[in-house]
Amino acid sequence: MSFVITTPLYYVNDKPHLGSIYTTLICDSIARYKRLSGEKVIFITGVDEHGLKIQRTANNKGVDPQSHCDEISNIFLQSWKDWDITYNKFIRTTSKKHESIVSEFYNRVKKSDDIYMGVQKGWYCVGCEEFKDNPENSPTHKCPIHQKNLEWKNEENLFFRLSKYQSQIEDLINDSLFIQPKERRNEIINFVSKGLKDFSISRTNVSWGISVPDTQNHTFYVWFDALLGYVSAISNDMNNSSLEVSINKGWPADIHLIGKDILRFHAVYWPAMLLSAGMKIPKKVFGHGFLTREGQKMGKSLGNVLDPNYLLSKYGKEAVRWYLLKDISLGSDGDFQNKRFVDIINNDLANTIGNLLNRTSSMSRKWFNNRVPNNEKFNTDNTLELYSNESIKMYIKHYDSFELDLAANVILNLAINTNLYLNEKQPWKLIKEEENISLVSNIIYNVLESTRIIGLLLLPILPDLSSKIDIQLGSLYNKNYSWIEQLKWGKLIHNSELPAPTPIIEKLEYE
Ligand code: MSP
Repeated sequence: MSFVITTPLYYVNDKPHLGSIYTTLICDSIARYKRLSGEKVIFITGVDEHGLKIQRTANNKGVDPQSHCDEISNIFLQSWKDWDITYNKFIRTTSKKHESIVSEFYNRVKKSDDIYMGVQKGWYCVGCEEFKDNPENSPTHKCPIHQKNLEWKNEENLFFRLSKYQSQIEDLINDSLFIQPKERRNEIINFVSKGLKDFSISRTNVSWGISVPDTQNHTFYVWFDALLGYVSAISNDMNNSSLEVSINKGWPADIHLIGKDILRFHAVYWPAMLLSAGMKIPKKVFGHGFLTREGQKMGKSLGNVLDPNYLLSKYGKEAVRWYLLKDISLGSDGDFQNKRFVDIINNDLANTIGNLLNRTSSMSRKWFNNRVPNNEKFNTDNTLELYSNESIKMYIKHYDSFELDLAANVILNLAINTNLYLNEKQPWKLIKEEENISLVSNIIYNVLESTRIIGLLLLPILPDLSSKIDIQLGSLYNKNYSWIEQLKWGKLIHNSELPAPTPIIEKLEYE
């Protein structure tokens, strides 16, 4: 059994933006955590390449849609490499194997008698690739998300009998574990309570899509196609890829992590489609919040889009990961503020964690011959051991509930308390008297050990920083044990050598 986690499949109308990086970093961190905890993980990401939005983007550039998709998909792949995203499957919805799974799936839904031909009239947002059903959205109104005019559509489409699944969807969303966080669940409960309407799953005016079998001139609606990417991703890299193989090799997903704007598709339409095809539904849909910049919505027209590549080259990925994962509670909206960003990185990582390691390692090297002290004979103080064990328990509880910010704060608090312990014990004063050497060796051992635990807990959040801490402590502790084993107090080897300390993170400057 694998733990299956997915990012949304990103539209290739443009290169990745901070929002796409945000979702992907969260999934990356959860995937790393699950692997460290001993689970087999299938981490799925990829791109959504069909539909009117992509067709128009390519047309406006004067290139054919396929070359456009190839170009942007490669940028996504490169970006995931630059950010060190540990995905297992990257799906492109233009891949032939995906197309054939879409047809297989469609045939199952058709067999369930859930497809019929009808006429679709309504106001459409090409940015969302969605009909907007609220009467207040007239053509003079704009899409609230994209601020662009809606377009009137009136055409023959194939429809999916969503209405048939009303009671099953109600049961599903009443399960408090399915949609998270709570506030998002209420939005969906409210939407479903108004009665589900059948929705159109084909288009006659969009050539850039997968052809509907046996139906001339119809291509699949991009969302019908894209959601299936989660399933096809599982077997896409196998020779015998098929719906059946994907089902046997990992489906259903344990969690779809998405932005709040696309919750309806994932928590209502998608489960109904799967029920119709006789397939299992995902275990959880988590709708995270939106990022703003200095309190303002980010957008091309506002000219305030924050380029993730700029952040990466200027501050490095560890700083961005810490800010996005630690400072924003998963599920709430978050604001990117330059001053706060610099302050948090300097306070948390450089001052609190970096200095703790640096000063303790220096003291240990100076007083114990460049080594970790041996406190075996004199181990009377278990304050930090108790604190650290308690922190590990809380950290695991938070990670398992996808409270990444709280898990990160547990690590920070462990570092703050370890610094306090050191300041209270003042080993630099004690060392002046020869008779205190055992006492000092105990203090320094405890602080170094607590720092080792801090480094380990950082592994799924800040993998590079964590490995720098490990190197500074001699890299001796992780060879023969699982991560969980390594988290046990006392694994730091007495008398082992400590390398000369170097800063694990540079302080940042204000812009
Ligand atoms: N292609 C669809 C998803 C199909 S999944 C089968 C799509 N793509 S998207 O590229 O437009 O959006 C991908 C994700 O980025 C969405 O979850 C969206 O919520 C998220 N974000 C877009 N802007 C964002 C912010 N400013 N902040 C945080 N996330 C945001 O929708």
